[in-house]
Amino acid sequence: MIHLYWCFAVFWSFIHGATIPPVKDGEMELKMVHVVWRHGDRSPTTTYNADPFQEDSWTFGGGGWGQLSPSGMFQHLQLGKKLRNRYVNTGNSTYNFLPAVYDQKTMYIRSTGINRTLISATSNMLGMYGQDGYGSTAGIDFPDAVGWPRGFVPIPIHTVDYDSDHIGNMDSDCPRREWLWNLAQQSDEMKAWRSSSSVRSVFNNLTALVNQKWSLEDFWVVPDALFIEQIYFNETLRQKNLWFTDDFYNQIVAVNDQIYMYEYGIFNKTVTMQNLNIGLELLKIRSGPLMNDMIDRINKKSACTYKKNETGCNWINGLKYFVYSAHDETVYSVLVALGLERFAIIPHGYPLYSAAVVVEYWRNSTDNNDYFKLVYHKQSGDDFTVMTNEIEECDRDYCRMDVLEQVAKKLKPDQPIDQWCLVTESSGSYSISISFLSFLIVIYNFFLL
Ligand SMILES: *[C@@H]1O[C@H](CO)[C@@H](O)[C@H](O)[C@H]1NC(C)=O
Ligand SMILES: *[C@@H]1O[C@H](CO)[C@@H](O)[C@H](O)[C@H]1NC(C)=O
Ligand SMILES: *[C@@H]1O[C@H](CO)[C@@H](O)[C@H](O)[C@H]1NC(C)=O
Ligand SMILES: *[C@@H]1O[C@H](CO)[C@@H](O)[C@H](O)[C@H]1NC(C)=O
Ligand SMILES: *[C@@H]1O[C@H](CO)[C@@H](O)[C@H](O)[C@H]1NC(C)=O
Ligand SMILES: *[C@@H]1O[C@H](CO)[C@@H](O)[C@H](O)[C@H]1NC(C)=O
Ligand SMILES: *[C@@H]1O[C@H](CO)[C@@H](O)[C@H](O)[C@H]1NC(C)=O
Repeated sequence: MIHLYWCFAVFWSFIHGATIPPVKDGEMELKMVHVVWRHGDRSPTTTYNADPFQEDSWTFGGGGWGQLSPSGMFQHLQLGKKLRNRYVNTGNSTYNFLPAVYDQKTMYIRSTGINRTLISATSNMLGMYGQDGYGSTAGIDFPDAVGWPRGFVPIPIHTVDYDSDHIGNMDSDCPRREWLWNLAQQSDEMKAWRSSSSVRSVFNNLTALVNQKWSLEDFWVVPDALFIEQIYFNETLRQKNLWFTDDFYNQIVAVNDQIYMYEYGIFNKTVTMQNLNIGLELLKIRSGPLMNDMIDRINKKSACTYKKNETGCNWINGLKYFVYSAHDETVYSVLVALGLERFAIIPHGYPLYSAAVVVEYWRNSTDNNDYFKLVYHKQSGDDFTVMTNEIEECDRDYCRMDVLEQVAKKLKPDQPIDQWCLVTESSGSYSISISFLSFLIVIYNFFLL
């Protein structure tokens, strides 16, 4: 009996990864993987008033606006299988890094707090850990019962409040982002762009055709709806929506791409207003929290592995795989931070369904330094492409972690992001108002006592 138990325990720990040997590529060892992915195919999140396809046209995935479709679920099932192939299987450019069977200590999945990203994460993990034949055991990993899909191991998907999620949700409640965007729109460059004849013509024609005015930040609604309607109602779209042409659509998309770039602070020339580099500040507010969240975790992992007396290492020591299940803009924010937005921009402006950026943390045993590899999954059906050498400061598949650290540092919000989002004046006047506030508090306390 004891023997049997021992055998079982050894088997269990083998299956569950306790005995997975380090993954090596010569002198390099894989330590941790971060993935930022976009949800899969969905219905439009809203549309313009005159659109012949309103909310009741969308019936899949629970029905209505913004829901993941079966095709979106399938895209993530496939991506999950691909990730399993890369990080569970042994082979050429695949690494037996994660256990074959779900081990709760090795991974953490963080989704933004809405249906399509949550269900994308569920679908992805179904591909990665939920198939029959992956080595899981009925009665241990899932119920041995009629009605339970054989081999389906549920994986916890964690989330946070959507509106205050400044890491995953680029539309979080953040007055500073709006403030900076308003400043950006008053810049000479954006004014010149907005009033150029080609851009004016797109806006004016669209307004006339659909009888609705568009601010720059709402403009995406039109190309987004049209993009999806071409997938689901391509012929009906052309019959019911008489102004739709491929040419006009492409011009709308081009305008929208440019708005995206401006929103992420990509200008032709540095824009300085109120003593602020507006482009940098926009990128800080959008990419800074995510880039710093990632690098902080990598640094903690490194410290806990190589500095013996680090504290609070229990969780991170086991952690190998961390996912952000999020949005096109989230994936975009990583690409822009690394100067790689050109890879997202074609053919549809922003990262496509189930696009994923992967940051692999590797350790070099020769110089005892941390390195990273950047891997991109451009869209469903594609393979992973190692893109590290496209980053300006990197020239090979492996790049010094310092590079990533410098990016994160440059984009680090000046204060904890919840506070920083409330700062809507340039820092000079802000520090005056803060010290004045502290002064008032001191006075107040003085009289109170
Ligand atoms: C692994 O793949 C690379 C690139 O495709 C190839 O050059 C190499 O020969 C392959 N190695 C093995 C062992 O298959
Ligand atoms: C998500 O689902 C809930 C309930 O099923 C629904 O009320 C809500 O509108 C959906 N939200 C989003 C953003 O998809
Ligand atoms: C920005 O640069 C691009 C490429 O050089 C150019 O086509 C475009 O007109 C410029 N935009 C503005 C507003 O100056
Ligand atoms: C806008 O409409 C005018 C008049 O019909 C046309 O000449 C122009 O090409 C249109 N612009 C775009 C971007 O479609
Ligand atoms: C929609 O139809 C047009 C022309 O009929 C075609 O060029 C295009 O590829 C179709 N789009 C999709 C997404 O099927
Ligand atoms: C960690 O250990 C080293 C060597 O024993 C020591 O010099 C250092 O002060 C310690 N650091 C902390 C944070 O305890
Ligand atoms: C590992 O470090 C050594 C010494 O700095 C360096 O020569 C080598 O290129 C590094 N390996 C990789 C794969 O970057």
